[in-house]
Amino acid sequence: MLDFLQPRISRYGRIFMSHLFGKPSLLSVDPEFNKWVMQNEGKLFKAMYTVSFRKAIGKYGLIAVHGDLQRKLHGIAVNLLAPDKLRSHYMADVESRVINSVASWIGEEVRLQDECHKIVSELMCKQLLDLDSIEEMEEIDKEFVAFTKTVLCFPIAFPGTNFAKGMKARKALDTKIYKAIKDREDHPEVQRGDLLTRLLREEKPLPTEVVVDFIIFLLFAGHETSSRSMTLAVKFITDHPEVLERLREEQDAIAKNKKGERLTWEDYTSMNYTQCVINETLRMSSVSPMVLRESTEDVEFDGHTIPKGTHVVLMSNGVHRDSEYFTSPLVFNPDRWWDFENDKFVNYTCFTPFGGGARLCPGAQLARLEIAILLHYLVTRCSWKLVKEDRITEFPLPTLVEGLPLRVFSRL
Ligand code: HEM
Repeated sequence: MLDFLQPRISRYGRIFMSHLFGKPSLLSVDPEFNKWVMQNEGKLFKAMYTVSFRKAIGKYGLIAVHGDLQRKLHGIAVNLLAPDKLRSHYMADVESRVINSVASWIGEEVRLQDECHKIVSELMCKQLLDLDSIEEMEEIDKEFVAFTKTVLCFPIAFPGTNFAKGMKARKALDTKIYKAIKDREDHPEVQRGDLLTRLLREEKPLPTEVVVDFIIFLLFAGHETSSRSMTLAVKFITDHPEVLERLREEQDAIAKNKKGERLTWEDYTSMNYTQCVINETLRMSSVSPMVLRESTEDVEFDGHTIPKGTHVVLMSNGVHRDSEYFTSPLVFNPDRWWDFENDKFVNYTCFTPFGGGARLCPGAQLARLEIAILLHYLVTRCSWKLVKEDRITEFPLPTLVEGLPLRVFSRL
């Protein structure tokens, strides 16, 4: 990506026209412009993703809706994923799944990317739909993997194309969610704490079609983003033993006082160095590398007119690796996130891995929690060795070419 961006930035500056997703597009790696566009969501600009993406996520997938409905659904997502809910509904579940997975890796060779995918997949099935059965979860996951592939492919539904397979998978997911809704309607006496039940019970009733798209979009938005970031964090600490050592120091100190008890929210919020590692992972390898918008009218910016209907691509991954904003941007250095003089986090306003404005990611805190808990149990309970050298590719999304194959040993 940097190979594509750098020559253009040198030639044209940080905002320039190019071709992306088959369309002339205004690309920006200018943090001020990006912020301004995101803050004008629903006014001068609106979210506009590719045709295949919109078809896959459905008419009411959160990123596809605008105006009042977006504000309402966004508010519901923020509420359902707020820190108090993470603390009461999610944390123990994330922890149990991570503890079981980490224990099962010891003495084995594992592809960490697949394992993280499994952890997040099971977590989402349980938290969103209250699914416990492994068979049911595997079935959902199979459909889900096929569904995810449609998002970046060409939207032609000939048999055998990824798009056709993905749309079939989408139908299968729809059927499961309609069934889950009917179960809840027919058996209101069954006590469940999942997000679908909370959505149906706590909020003013939404049309069923909206609920289905909302749940599928959450499944999608919270899946590959978190699981890939978990794997990437482990890749970076594996490549930087000095970072691993400091991370382990912080996590060992927390584990030492636990005597086998579970982590508390206070333990989690005390993981300062771990949060620096997470920030640095998200900066170096943004799993959501760009935000797509379209201008809704002729818009003036810095003496230029952006005509109505212009496709605008805000490239946070370019900003995050620009030496103008981050010293030695290609060096993995979690210390850049800590102000040692004032003993607090450094706030880089140009750092926007979770977007901004009215569409700021409602799952940001959940993603951070998942990564931190994985790191806690991995570094305190295990050591590991790379079985095969691996590297990160960036297209279409950052991923490990070999899936990060590790041999895992016990440290206890
Ligand atoms: C490292 C992990 C994650 C990253 C980097 C990430 C990034 C983003 C970004 C950049 C956006 C804004 C898109 C735009 O403005 O066009 C977004 C939106 C969204 N994210 Fe995340 N996300 C992550 C994890 C999650 C999780 C765990 C969930 C939920 C379970 C989630 C749910 C959503 C939803 C529902 C939206 C749409 C908000 C709206 O349009 O109103 N994300 N995410």
